[in-house]
Amino acid sequence: MDIIGIGYLGFETTQLDQWREYGPGIMGFQTVSAPATDPESLYFKVDDRRNRMAFHSGSIDRVTYIGWEAQNRLAFLDAVETFKNNGVNITFGDAELCELRGVKELIRFRDPVGYQHELFYAQKWTPRSFLPGRPHGGFICDDRGLGHIVLMIPAKNPELDHFLLNIMGFQWYGSGAGKGQTSFYRSKLNNATSHDIAFGVAPGRMGIQHIGLFVDSVRDVGETYDLVKKHDHPLMMTLGQHTQDPHMSFYHFNPSGFAFETITELEPWQGDHFELNPEIMSTWGHEIVGPIVGPSVGMAEDLYPELFSSS
Ligand SMILES: [Fe+2]
Repeated sequence: MDIIGIGYLGFETTQLDQWREYGPGIMGFQTVSAPATDPESLYFKVDDRRNRMAFHSGSIDRVTYIGWEAQNRLAFLDAVETFKNNGVNITFGDAELCELRGVKELIRFRDPVGYQHELFYAQKWTPRSFLPGRPHGGFICDDRGLGHIVLMIPAKNPELDHFLLNIMGFQWYGSGAGKGQTSFYRSKLNNATSHDIAFGVAPGRMGIQHIGLFVDSVRDVGETYDLVKKHDHPLMMTLGQHTQDPHMSFYHFNPSGFAFETITELEPWQGDHFELNPEIMSTWGHEIVGPIVGPSVGMAEDLYPELFSSS
């Protein structure tokens, strides 16, 4: 499938008021008007797309949809055929849903674990329209998508691997450092970053471990770091550089209890000419100073009860 990367993300949150302050004030997101049919929700823009993240008020903090961007209409139609040929249950978004997301067309489907995904093409866009919520150099999305998401799954799942690699056509990146319990993938058309999505195993549990966002410069990482400390948002990992990526980043917890990794590229990603087997997670820094998973990770039946209801 000709997928560029993550186009947008949707969340349910118990902390909508905190997000209204934190999104623009700490992260530099731009708050944009919510669509008329969803006036209570909070929509953030981080580049020239109409919006990249939406927070909907609810009783659980969790990701409720991951919107993958097909390159264009033809790529979308090809993907629809591929899902159908593989027996994947897809539903088409109606005009109201497409308007909410700001896209021309979309389909919805779940992965074998149960996470809800969408695939769309043609998200609304206005060049030079991004105005950060605070002084900020901007976020790098464009040809690599919004960033990456790392989700927990209750058990190793070979069907998930098949779904991502053989149906969605993602590239395999590897297992990273550590115990080999995390699997990293990137979309077919993303050759700018090492991964778009990763799944880590946490027995019985689901939820977001972290989301990585690329900012314009070291200054944006540093200024975000200072604001996070000044406003007492807990850190997960200090500034550091992962072994496999020429990036500098740090991790802190946001109001929904998952971490944002704020990343700057020290140099362009080098590609992977062989499967990496790093001996250490980071070459410097990334001291783990908080829990490695936050309160956004919980028992699967608590986080996604709809997957367990008998009806
Ligand atoms: Fe990351």
